[in-house]
Amino acid sequence: MQVLITGHLGYVGPWMIRAFKEAGHQVAGLDVGYFRECVDPLEGFPPPDRECVRDIRDVSAADLDGVDAIVHLAALSNDPLGHLDPALTHAINTEASLRLATLAKQSGIRRFVFASSCSIYGGVGERGAPADEGATMDPLSAYAHSKVDTEAGLAALADAGFEPVFMRNATAFGVSPRMRFDLVVQNLIGWGVTTGAIRVLSDGTPWRPIVHIADMSRACVAAATAPAAAVAGEAFNIGRDDNNFRIREIAETIVGILPSVRLEITGEAGPDPRSYRVSFAKAADRLPGFRAEWTLERGSEEIVAWLRSGHLRERDFQSRFFVRLKQLQHLMSERYVDDRIRVRAPA
Ligand SMILES: NC(=O)c1ccc[n+]([C@@H]2O[C@H](COP(=O)([O-])OP(=O)(O)OC[C@H]3O[C@@H](n4cnc5c(N)ncnc54)[C@H](O)[C@@H]3O)[C@@H](O)[C@H]2O)c1
Repeated sequence: MQVLITGHLGYVGPWMIRAFKEAGHQVAGLDVGYFRECVDPLEGFPPPDRECVRDIRDVSAADLDGVDAIVHLAALSNDPLGHLDPALTHAINTEASLRLATLAKQSGIRRFVFASSCSIYGGVGERGAPADEGATMDPLSAYAHSKVDTEAGLAALADAGFEPVFMRNATAFGVSPRMRFDLVVQNLIGWGVTTGAIRVLSDGTPWRPIVHIADMSRACVAAATAPAAAVAGEAFNIGRDDNNFRIREIAETIVGILPSVRLEITGEAGPDPRSYRVSFAKAADRLPGFRAEWTLERGSEEIVAWLRSGHLRERDFQSRFFVRLKQLQHLMSERYVDDRIRVRAPA
């Protein structure tokens, strides 16, 4: 099977390519390349079999030639990017996704695996039982709204010939050739390793389920290849039940791995309404062959080892190389992209 992975030049992309190739599939990648230079090669991550440099807003049917299934990762992919310009998040994450899905359906591509997010549960998991896939959604950011709206639009397109699957991923962690430190686990470890102190600016109580990007990627392989009866039109929370943590617990686990590091919970940022505990039982029961494997401890040790083996070089872990919002702001200030973050034609 040939799988088109959009957003393959992002944080999750290298793991996604690897997971599909290891499962014996051909991989095409499509990405505009906002983070093309933010790469630090690691062994064992193969390139796609073919690559298309394209803004997702400009995809044409010709780009889908020969494609059997789509894994759609391309997005402005976290809350700070959504704050940059909520309308832009809607245009790229929702409108362009639904346009791509419509083209896919017209081209006879049945399976469309969409990278959604547990952030659609917003503050819901704090109030009662962990949120399962039937829980009321409570999106609290432009990013979370974009995922809710895209799921709804894809569900409306679903029929016997078009099979969207909604992967509601927990917050990702793990080492990638396109490393990020704007995600909670990496960010706390980055502070701990480089300064000797982890400062949690909230009161540390919000719940945040996490998932390793290897598990996120294997879940997509399962969703792309499962029989339609198992997955078509279905949502799956992707993570593990024992990877539901309060932020304070994530920090304490990291301090357990870095015992000389000091932990300060300052509370200075005030309460964070984004707090959700999530049930991952459905994917474990019903996503064929899938089980999330990575624990916080194992992933954290890998990130610490990455930092200690010199991958930062002289770079600050809070620089644009590792923080998406800063990289996009850099591309804008250098006028490499316009105010709609469209890549400008070379002068
Ligand atoms: N990282 C997480 O914690 C997490 C959690 C839940 C869901 N997700 C979802 O998984 C997907 C991948 O996440 P990631 O962490 O790899 O994100 P990322 O920001 O690292 O990568 C996204 C990729 O999409 C590309 N892209 C963005 N806008 C584009 C456009 N207009 N045209 C073409 N390409 C464009 C970027 O260039 C980038 O390479 C996203 O949809 C994200 O919302 C991520």
